[in-house]
Amino acid sequence: MRPRRLRQTDSLRRMVREANLTANDMIYPVFVMEGENTKQEITSMPGSFRYTLDLLLEELKEVSELGIPAIALFPLVAEDLKDNAGTESYNPNGLVPRAVKAIKAAFPDLTVITDIALDPYSNQGHDGIVENGEILNDETVAILVKQALSHAEAGADIVAPSDMMDGRIGAIRQGLDAAGWTNVGILAYSAKYASAYYGPFRDALDSAPKFGDKKTYQMDPANSGEAIKEVELDIMEGADIVMVKPALSYMDIIYRVKEISSLPVAVYNVSGEYAMVKAAALNGWIDEKKVVLETLTSFKRAGADLILTYHAKDAVRWLAE
Ligand code: PBG
Repeated sequence: MRPRRLRQTDSLRRMVREANLTANDMIYPVFVMEGENTKQEITSMPGSFRYTLDLLLEELKEVSELGIPAIALFPLVAEDLKDNAGTESYNPNGLVPRAVKAIKAAFPDLTVITDIALDPYSNQGHDGIVENGEILNDETVAILVKQALSHAEAGADIVAPSDMMDGRIGAIRQGLDAAGWTNVGILAYSAKYASAYYGPFRDALDSAPKFGDKKTYQMDPANSGEAIKEVELDIMEGADIVMVKPALSYMDIIYRVKEISSLPVAVYNVSGEYAMVKAAALNGWIDEKKVVLETLTSFKRAGADLILTYHAKDAVRWLAE
């Protein structure tokens, strides 16, 4: 047997390639802030920016022209709008609803996915209401439903709960349906781990926890059977897409989830994964293009159908070369 026979030429290799990465696989996460005509580079995420809405629209023109089908929108919320209950998270005139309206008006074909969670709006930097140092579950879920409704009202195509409260997928599905938003989808952050790889994202949104950590709601990195439980619950509760997050050190989870999921599986190539590649590339220690394409292809090989990645624009350009 000579397996090398099928590796001899580029055309042979293309013929037998099992995982093919395309623009259709990608979801581009973007950061929006208040103001005009400003963009700020995120120090720990070189090449990624927070944009005011006007400049974000220019950025999204490029994103749509590249054929990237979807964005995931995250807001930087002013400190004086933050409180324990994340009240601003369901303000119908808040930054996210205004951004969604403007984006859908300018790019009706771009799928807009909004983040459902309290942390960018919480003065505690947590994904839920805090009482005596504890994160309340059901009280938080009630707020998440209101947040999802305000995003649906603004025109979001998909809402994406990233908080890890129990039962939120079912509650949001029922809330959306009762209000007539039966066509608004849910991308569930189903297996989301308590990860140190989120550090740069929390810099971007100024949303780091003010005390403690997120281990009472996000998953223990040591567990994998529990990821299956979380995914099964979200499927039963009405998710349309399930997600594993982070991606790079959770490839086994991606593989296991894909084996049992009847739904598309998304993975989040998170900020810390991006930061490591960027830091090494800026030092000239790795070939950024090759490392990024290898990494994203590996997610597909592991079982990902969709990839949230800050590399999306670069990757699509490189694929076209
Ligand atoms: C919060 C949220 C986080 C990310 C997406 N939504 C951070 C956290 O859970 O603390 C992280 C994304 C990234 O690191 O790129 N609900």
